[in-house]
Order: sequence, then structure tokens, then C-alpha cells
Amino acid sequence: MRRLAVLTSGGDAPGMNAAVRAVVRCGIERGFEVVGVRDGYQGLANGDLRPIGRREVGGIIQRGGTALGTKRYEPLKTPEGRKLAIGTLCAHEIAALIVIGGNGSQTGACALHAEGFPVIGIASTIDNDLCGTEISIGATTAIDVALEAIDRLRVTASAMRRAFLVEVMGRHCGYLALMTAITGGAEIVALPEADAEPESLAQELCAAYERGKSHAIGVIAEGARYDADALARYFKEHHERLGFELRVTKLGHIQRGGAPGAFDRMLGTMLGAAAVEAAAERRYGILVGLRDGRPATTPLAEVAGRTKPADTHLLRLARILAL
Ligand code: F6P
Repeated sequence: MRRLAVLTSGGDAPGMNAAVRAVVRCGIERGFEVVGVRDGYQGLANGDLRPIGRREVGGIIQRGGTALGTKRYEPLKTPEGRKLAIGTLCAHEIAALIVIGGNGSQTGACALHAEGFPVIGIASTIDNDLCGTEISIGATTAIDVALEAIDRLRVTASAMRRAFLVEVMGRHCGYLALMTAITGGAEIVALPEADAEPESLAQELCAAYERGKSHAIGVIAEGARYDADALARYFKEHHERLGFELRVTKLGHIQRGGAPGAFDRMLGTMLGAAAVEAAAERRYGILVGLRDGRPATTPLAEVAGRTKPADTHLLRLARILAL
């Protein structure tokens, strides 16, 4: 029986468990023995893997995080680290490895494939900055978590006529911030892809009050040139002139810990199933993502080391909707 190994790697994302469950159950259906690797590439290097059955992935689809555990494992960037990983895969007679993760993880997957091991990636990161997919597992749930926080902040912001800056994750990509700003009705948004000077953001906030708003919410991407702390310092220095009181909330890792919504459960399931099909057909060195609403594959070599920026055309829409 051919053995298929599966691991989750890098930052956890809600919906990873749905993908693991689909890989296990569809894999067994397709005649594979499925082996789960603990803690990503670190577990692979340390030989921490064991077969998983259908029942062992019961009750995980509704949980955030990853039942397999995950790590950021820097040694995979070195030939020695990859040698250890491939050594484990060969020792356990694994026919192919499925890597569920984001940018760094898929760059690692590409390197293993380039060294001759059959690998298939599944696009999973809350940042949605992976090339080769329209949306990655975890992104929509992370937006929902940020929205819940913004809806609550608006209550206290209105009550006290304050401005709030909410810093959201996303590393160097502004996708989460932009989507959160549009769907959360924010007055301003700052992204790594579109530099905004503190003074022009301050003027936008002032204008919101002048238009009669009782609150102002700014969504700031963690990777923006001026992050929430830098902007707060500027606004404090110019407090007299600007005339509004400001508070900062950083969502940080809270954003990653949500229970997956319907979309991420479905996406994880569809991509997990499609990765198993690819393994059954011996199509390797690819990332499984979503294109035109369907699972689609892209060579890992086209994905590795690249990031997809947020679509800044939507910034104009965000500004119009904030008026
Ligand atoms: O890539 C996912 C992500 O949550 C980013 O948005 C964030 O910048 C980073 O991971 C945080 O990494 P860590 O969990 O290692 O602190």
C-alpha cells in the first residue's frame, strides 16, 4: 500500500484541520495509508510520525489551530535540515508528502521537491499572500475575528467619541487589513502596499468627525510603513491641533485562533481532497489552491519565495464607502 504523509507547517490557520481530515479520509478511500507528521518539518526531521485512521480525525473540523501541531523550522532552509527530512520520509517508505501551510512552508516544500522527493502543497495562511490561489485556508475566518473586534470597538468608540486604531496581522501583505476595513466600515486603512503619511491619515480621521460621525475606526496592517504605534505617537504629538482622543488595539494572535467558518471548512475539505487526487495521479511539485471557485494547481516553483500583494484597486472603494 502506498504511504502518504501529511503535515501542517508555519502559522496555524483555521481550516487546517478540515484539510487534514480530508487528506486522511480521502486518502484512505483512494487506497493510501496516511501518516501524520507532528509539528511540521521539525517533526519530520526528528522522525515524529505515525499512521492516522479515519476515526482519529473525527471532531476536528470545527476546531481552529491544527491537531497535528505546527512549527516554524528554520533548519529546513539548509541542505542538512532537508537531508534529515528526506531521510525520515525514505526510512518510512513514504510515497509522497502533503504540506499544508503558507509561504515559508511552500518554499520548503519546493526545496524538498527540487531534491527529488514528491511533494504536494495546500495553500493555507491567514495572510492570503500565497501566489497560486485566490484565497488561502484561514483568511476568511481571520477577517471574521477582526470584524467581531471592530464591531465591539465601535460601540465604545461611539459612546466616548474616540478614534480607534486596530492593528491586524498579515505580515507584509495588506489583504486582511483591506478586507477588514471594507467589511467593518472603517474610516481609514493603512497597508504595506500603499504608503500613507500620518498627516493624511489624521486628516481623514478629522474629516470623519466633521461629517458628523461619532467615532472613527482605522484599520492598520501590521506591515504598513507606519504601524499603529507609530501613528498613535504622531497623533499624540499633534493632539491639540487634531482634537481627537485615540486608543490602539492590536489583535495579534487572537486573529489566528478563531473556530473555522463554513467557508474555511469547505475550502480545507476541497483542497485536501484535491491534493489526494493529485497524489493518486502522481502529480507532484504543485500547490493546490482555488481558482474560479475550484481547486486548481500551480507549480511550486512559481509559488516559492514570492508573495501576492493585496489588490489596491479596492482601496478606492474603501474610501468611498467610508464617506
Ligand atoms: O503568517 C501568519 C502570521 O500570523 C502573520 O500574519 C504574522 O505576521 C505571523 O504569522 C506571526 O508569526 P508568529 O506566530 O510566529 O509570531
